[in-house]
Amino acid sequence: MGLKMKITVDVVNFRVRAAQILEKGVSMGPVRIKDNVYWVGVLDWDIRDFHGYSTPKGTTYNSYLVIDEKITLFDGVKKPFKNDLLESIAQIVDPRKIDYLVVNHVEMDHSGSIPEIVELIQPQKVLCSPMGKKALIDHFNREDWPFEVVETGQTLKLGKKSVSFFETRMLHWPDSMMSYLNEDKILISSDAFGEHWATSERFDDQVDSGELFGHAAKYYANILLLYSPLVQKLIAKLAQAGIEPSMIAPDHGVIWRRDIAGIISAYARWSKQESLRKALVIYDTMWQATASMAEAVGEGLKREGFDFKLFNLKFNHRSDIMTEVLDASALIIGSATINNGMMPAMADLLTYMKGLKPHGKVGAAFGSYGWSGEAVKQIADWMREINIHMVGDGLRVKFTPKKQDLENCIELGRQVAREALAREAGISTPKTD
Ligand code: FEO
Repeated sequence: MGLKMKITVDVVNFRVRAAQILEKGVSMGPVRIKDNVYWVGVLDWDIRDFHGYSTPKGTTYNSYLVIDEKITLFDGVKKPFKNDLLESIAQIVDPRKIDYLVVNHVEMDHSGSIPEIVELIQPQKVLCSPMGKKALIDHFNREDWPFEVVETGQTLKLGKKSVSFFETRMLHWPDSMMSYLNEDKILISSDAFGEHWATSERFDDQVDSGELFGHAAKYYANILLLYSPLVQKLIAKLAQAGIEPSMIAPDHGVIWRRDIAGIISAYARWSKQESLRKALVIYDTMWQATASMAEAVGEGLKREGFDFKLFNLKFNHRSDIMTEVLDASALIIGSATINNGMMPAMADLLTYMKGLKPHGKVGAAFGSYGWSGEAVKQIADWMREINIHMVGDGLRVKFTPKKQDLENCIELGRQVAREALAREAGISTPKTD
């Protein structure tokens, strides 16, 4: 069936369909989240890599539809899901009756469908931030769209409802903004407060809280960590503006309505990069010598009462490691040397980590080598570049670690733990590098 015919059929039947919408929110069609406010997003169950971030449980692209004198759609979806979005909208209203299209963020997972949506619905206004307009034109070369640029604090009447806009530059793109439905107290928060998680449930109180906060932490660590100072400003800005949402409706994952305070306080904590008494020993190994060193470093940490986790890069994804980095106080990183450098997976991780700018960590470097052994120095240099407080200049072992070498690894673990504990207690020690 062609899309136009399908939409017509849907419009004829939409009253019947609307009655079938589950207000409980356990549905894959549209979901009423407040009177005349609907989630019309789509689920992407199959995606496993989101520009380098592993998504073992898929993701969602959330769009929201407000029915009022001016029917308004907030955000699009990834291009391949355009028809799913339109079919979902058609269960509520003929998509061609949409008056306003709000584009909170131009990244392709939300705007890939926008050109075809604009073509179909012919909106009276395309509302976006000043940078959003530039980015939409840069992406789609369509200066003829009926753009209306909105700025922070600007309010637009939709009828009985009104929406206010908040620019959130670099959270996480220059164009990013949020929309706030004033009467319903719904904050449509774009990427912030989201999770990459495909689930048939739509609200935070319908899913396991531990799993939810795990996905939210991974999202923060991999998307927002480098913008942490801006996150702190955002939280303050929302409070100053008197915004006390009854719902936070992000563009990925579930809608927060029960634990709004919990997710805001988690963002406050993550953005301060508050760390736990936790160390990560991250390594790549060629013939298990560096792996033996990693285990001995862990033994040293344990002897100082420090929790630690070992991450072999052959079995752990960079984005899962970044989630652990979020609240770790110590990073001890090792690699064998190959072709005068570090193992390729280690270069991948360090490049990724450097971009996300974790701070406030103590660290050390280690590794086995055969004849040149450059990897340890390279790792130590990378760690210094991201302002990790280094313990020592790096521990190298030629070929297989002997008894004394393993003792030295244990001692390295103990030194890092003692340094982290001293910093936790506010005792500053001179840098050893
Ligand atoms: Fe979900 Fe920055 O896009």
